[in-house]
Amino acid sequence: MLERVYISDLKNYIGQDVIVDGWVDVRRDHGKLIFIDLRDKSEKVQIVFLPTHQEAHETAKSIRSEWVLRIKGKVNARSEKLVNNNEFNGTLEIEALSVEVLNKSEALPIDISTDGLEINEENRLRYRYLDLRRKRMQRNLRIRHKIIKKMRDYLDERDFIEVETPILTKSTPEGARDYIVPSRQSKGKFYALPQSPQQYKQLLMVAGIEKYFQIARCFRDEDTRSDRQPEFTQMDLEMSFVTQEELINLNEEMLIHIVQTLIPEKKIQQIPFPRITYKEAMEKYHTDRPDIRENKDDPNLLAFCWVVDFPFFEKADNGSWTFTHNPFSAPKPEYMNDLLMKTNVENIITTQYDIVLNGYEIGGGSIRNHNPEALKAVFEIMGYPEDQISKNFGHMLQALSYGAPPHGGIAWGLDRFVTLLLGEDSIREVIPFAKTGEGKDLMMSSPSEVSTAQLQELNIKTLK
Ligand code: AMO
Repeated sequence: MLERVYISDLKNYIGQDVIVDGWVDVRRDHGKLIFIDLRDKSEKVQIVFLPTHQEAHETAKSIRSEWVLRIKGKVNARSEKLVNNNEFNGTLEIEALSVEVLNKSEALPIDISTDGLEINEENRLRYRYLDLRRKRMQRNLRIRHKIIKKMRDYLDERDFIEVETPILTKSTPEGARDYIVPSRQSKGKFYALPQSPQQYKQLLMVAGIEKYFQIARCFRDEDTRSDRQPEFTQMDLEMSFVTQEELINLNEEMLIHIVQTLIPEKKIQQIPFPRITYKEAMEKYHTDRPDIRENKDDPNLLAFCWVVDFPFFEKADNGSWTFTHNPFSAPKPEYMNDLLMKTNVENIITTQYDIVLNGYEIGGGSIRNHNPEALKAVFEIMGYPEDQISKNFGHMLQALSYGAPPHGGIAWGLDRFVTLLLGEDSIREVIPFAKTGEGKDLMMSSPSEVSTAQLQELNIKTLK
């Protein structure tokens, strides 16, 4: 019995009979000779159908692009003048002995032979399962997988554990609008989808986990952009008994390790990564995510930098104080007294650090307030009344009162990081089933209406 061989392995089978499965990339009919380029997940190979194998040759006449075939054939080395050095399998071809049509295909609604960037994106998203067949998208998914695996291995080797946190959770103040989910069992009440696992990871520190990470899905109801999706993925991490310096170093080493082992053609501009204060960034670059590349024409240049020393609070539109990054962050130690006394608010500096790559914020984190008084002071400065603080954050304040260790962490925007490593222009190119600018999934036609019965069960009426 012959076993299926992946097309990228055919070089090891010269002179042997093999089975290959895959899709018809193109077919060229020269009458007597019919050629098919067959494609599987690994590569492409030229199959030649000769009139001497009559049945296979007859079938080959009717075969069209994107049909799915199983071919039994002999792997032949090509004669010297037919060698094509531009193709992976340019030194060989398969002489088809028999062919089985596993499925036919209609003509595809989009061209998948190019990199696809010339095609209307809505069409690509509507037929995403076809769009993903193209070589560029296959590469993007594969490298995304490898990057995630590197992260997991790297952290596992350093004794972190990956812990899953809930998707059905509670509305939290992280700056964006929440997606909410009605509850059937508690009518009139709602879960919220997490904007990040922020509170859970801190609760895991209270739980004594000490070294947590998660490849975590996050949900934010914001307008979509080329670097923003309503649901996206973070590499989320938290540690106990740790300093800002240790966190920065760990993350920097992991970023360098991923780039150097997986995308060695990329050059990191400066190691260790430069650290720029918020004030300096605003004065020199007029942005808190400066693009410090020395040569912006070089697609292989990665200019990482840390931005530190952000102001903790800023004035909201209504004149009250709001946090600039994360209400759970601690101030720098020299400002702790100001926070507790609620004085000098405009000058309090947070322990927040952002990691910026080529002008994109690819991550951010901080040391947290591990004593409940400090966290409470943050909410008081923002003008939250006592009852609202205990209603919304009572669980956090309570947890911090039971021996919470000092802790801190970070989250990377994984999609953004992968996009920059792959040299793509939009995070939609590295998200398998991305949504449009209006937050729609055109392939599934979502969001969509639900039945009256479903709404009734949830005690919900929609306004006309
Ligand atoms: P923050 O809100 O800064 O921090 O998010 C961390 C990183 O996630 C990425 N990001 C996004 N990527 C794609 N689409 C979006 N809509 C989107 N929003 C954010 C960015 C950002 O730097 N819990 C804290 C982290 C911490 O303090 O540990 C948090 O979520 O690259």
